[in-house]
Amino acid sequence: MAALIPVGVAGLGRYVPERRLTNHDLEQIVDTSDEWIVQRTGIRERRIAADGEVTSSLALEAARAALADAGMAPEELDLVICATVTGDQPFPATACRLGFDLGAARAGGFDLAAACSGFVFASQVAAGFVQSGQFRNVLVVGAEVLSRILDYRDRNTCVLFGDGAGAAIYTSLERAGRGEFLGGSIAMEGGAESILAQPGGGSRHPATADSVQQGLHFMKMGGTRVFRFAVRVFAELVQGVIDRHGREALGVIVPHQVNQRIIESAMEQIGLPMDLVFTNIDRYGNTSAASVPIALREAYEAGRLQKGKLVVMPAFGAGMAWGHLLLRW
Ligand SMILES: CC(C)(COP(=O)(O)OP(=O)(O)OC[C@H]1O[C@@H](n2cnc3c(N)ncnc32)[C@H](O)[C@@H]1OP(=O)(O)O)[C@@H](O)C(=O)NCCC(=O)NCCS
Repeated sequence: MAALIPVGVAGLGRYVPERRLTNHDLEQIVDTSDEWIVQRTGIRERRIAADGEVTSSLALEAARAALADAGMAPEELDLVICATVTGDQPFPATACRLGFDLGAARAGGFDLAAACSGFVFASQVAAGFVQSGQFRNVLVVGAEVLSRILDYRDRNTCVLFGDGAGAAIYTSLERAGRGEFLGGSIAMEGGAESILAQPGGGSRHPATADSVQQGLHFMKMGGTRVFRFAVRVFAELVQGVIDRHGREALGVIVPHQVNQRIIESAMEQIGLPMDLVFTNIDRYGNTSAASVPIALREAYEAGRLQKGKLVVMPAFGAGMAWGHLLLRW
């Protein structure tokens, strides 16, 4: 077998819609309060896609930013992977529209559905293709318009989520010169459809007047069970990296932006200070597959990715599915 090609990150990009939905705005829509939301989640506002904006259009802006950061032309891309659970439509893949709009004339593409773990899983798939030599330049975008599957009468879910997109381009480490891919993990525990899901619109509950009447096209969630699961796997994933590489190697943790309290509880459990974590949940809420790449780009802009140090990205969500991505910057 040929030797594996070392992989790096050529470019990072992000895009969030202009419109802000604050906690005070939500107070006018459902029975909630700014105080409750901030105390339980750390979220102060989230972004909402404008009429006419769709997942591929958010993804397009993030992808363009990543290409500019990489100094790469769209024709140089070999593969486009779009991680999303709110694609433009059930099929064809949102990646096909994205690749077309971007001008990625040579690229193949597909979508990857792993909810909040989507970017972390897709990045490992991308890195595998580059490592093997099958593709040279792979674009991964995590993009979501969750506002279109939220029930703004359900205070248990509608306050938590927002819209956005983030992107990364993987290529050989030689070309990228930074962000060496060191690996990661992909895990699942099935049979959890009732904990966090969009039940309607698939083969189990096809869209009918009745399914719409029952609101099955909206996201449903059992919050407390998700909370406990998220704290446990976050702590396990980060502890695993420390056991393998040592505490000193750790530069920054850029986790799925799930909930400030989940992040704080997990950090306390591992005995690590909060200044090791990058968060932006106060401004965007939970943007599912977009959350890690948006945070990664912002951590980069803020100078939080330190040369030679590890960047750990734990993610977890519906499935249940969880895992992490590990880079050395
Ligand atoms: C949803 C979540 C914030 C609730 O926090 P919590 O500390 O478990 O909530 P509590 O048990 O203190 O309170 C629940 C009560 O608050 C109420 N409540 C829920 N949402 C509310 C809101 N937006 N505003 C006011 N009250 C709300 C509930 O109706 C419930 O009331 P009840 O006790 O009368 O039934 C928390 O469970 C959570 O973050 N879970 C993880 C969810 C998540 O991140 N999912 C995505 C994973 S990828």
